[in-house]
Amino acid sequence: MKFCVTTPIYYINGEPHIGHAYASIAADILARFRRLDGSEVHFSTGTDEHGIKVARSAETASMDVHKFSDLMSQGFRDLGKLINLSQDDFIRTTEERHILSSQKLWRLMADDIYKGSYSGWYSARDEEYVSEEDVVDGKAPSGAPVEWMEEESYFFRLSAYQDKLLELYEKNPDFIAPVSRRNEVISFVKGGLKDLSISRSKFDWGIPIPNAPGHVMYVWIDALANYITSLGFPENTHRVSEMMANCVHVVGKEILRFHAVYWPAFLMSAGLTLPKRIFAHGWWTSEGQKMSKSIGNVVDPQKTIEKYGLDSVRYFLFREIRFGEDGDFSEKALQQRISYDLANDLGNLVQRVLAFIQKIGGLRVNYDFTDAEMPLFEDSRNLVEKLRILVDKQDLHGALIEIWKLVSASNKFVNDMRPWELAREDDNRLNLVLTALCESLRAIAFGIAPFMPDTARKIFDFMNVEGKSFKEIEANFSDQVFPSPFLLFPRE
Ligand code: MSP
Repeated sequence: MKFCVTTPIYYINGEPHIGHAYASIAADILARFRRLDGSEVHFSTGTDEHGIKVARSAETASMDVHKFSDLMSQGFRDLGKLINLSQDDFIRTTEERHILSSQKLWRLMADDIYKGSYSGWYSARDEEYVSEEDVVDGKAPSGAPVEWMEEESYFFRLSAYQDKLLELYEKNPDFIAPVSRRNEVISFVKGGLKDLSISRSKFDWGIPIPNAPGHVMYVWIDALANYITSLGFPENTHRVSEMMANCVHVVGKEILRFHAVYWPAFLMSAGLTLPKRIFAHGWWTSEGQKMSKSIGNVVDPQKTIEKYGLDSVRYFLFREIRFGEDGDFSEKALQQRISYDLANDLGNLVQRVLAFIQKIGGLRVNYDFTDAEMPLFEDSRNLVEKLRILVDKQDLHGALIEIWKLVSASNKFVNDMRPWELAREDDNRLNLVLTALCESLRAIAFGIAPFMPDTARKIFDFMNVEGKSFKEIEANFSDQVFPSPFLLFPRE
């Protein structure tokens, strides 16, 4: 099986914050899950470096735009390290491979491109054209200021794709997720599509248009093309189409239209394979308010991770809200999740089971389960299949809830079976109970591995489990002594 997953490529006009980390970790979880499940995965992320917004930021910083891009792009690469991103490719839109790929895409779309002149409003902050009726008090719907633009421009015949797009959404009900977002896109397209201005001639920080001196591509053409560049376009067309057909683009809800309307239209025009799904996630506020530099409530991923630990933050982001919905980031909510779900439920379970096994000199397996152990054993062996169904729908929140059902069931099982008493009274039952618990701990570790890779690694190491493939769950444990466990989520 092939699987491709992408993050948005980030504008480099500012520092990375928790919103960027969120989109990237989501894609990372999907990539890690599919790798453990045996798929060949391509996971790409990167930086979106052209356009008026970046050009102006470089100017404000009194820096050469190339140097500025190198510096700022590095910040996003560093974020990737900080959050333990397992990307296969980090793409920068200023790279040669991408310039060639975007120009090739342009040529393939040539039949739908014509020259004209554009006059209208533009929001540099959103890098988006804004129609007359959407401008209120000199502002775009996003609140960004707009400016008047008049220039010679190339246009893409988007209007010709209205019916084809509606047919695409109709035939592929899961092309846009979640479903509420899908409905928004459909009504937008039904409202009528105007041709799209796809070049700029008043500035030059962009990819040159083939055979059109003085024109550079509208930044969104070049931005969207990153996904195929990363897959090896234009050389490796077979791989591009194979991977695109299995590709999930994770995007924030504010850029869904570019991905669900423009991008498929461009690909259809170029005769290239469409992605499998566009998943639009929601936005985080911070302590109840929109994150903004002026309020000073922007959540800095580095500080938060230094204070609370990476895996705790990764867990929180996907447990606190359903993936697809908006949520509020508050330290109090994060502290509670760490204390209850992680330290009390998970950490404690691992500790009480593994420290106990160590105390009695190791695991002696017995798989002749009775009705008492069978339900826990079956739940453990069935966990991955349940997660597979949820993760295929990008229901990451549902997946964590499912894993924690097994955590709770295991804790309850320990309370009910009282292994410390069995150790004095009934060796046979003791071995059955501990074998069932090792099975559930291993399943839990595999379940959390995509979400909390370091924590899962610790549990794997405590239990001599390799931790490379879900298949390992199918093998029985053998008698053995485990290395000493230590506290996973120590309290201060
Ligand atoms: N460069 C474009 C995307 C091009 S993709 C071909 C862009 N970049 S961006 O830097 O503005 O980042 C966009 C993404 O960052 C959002 O789509 C979203 O995934 C993430 N987030 C940025 N702020 C966010 C929040 N406050 N909350 C959650 N995610 C947000 O748009």
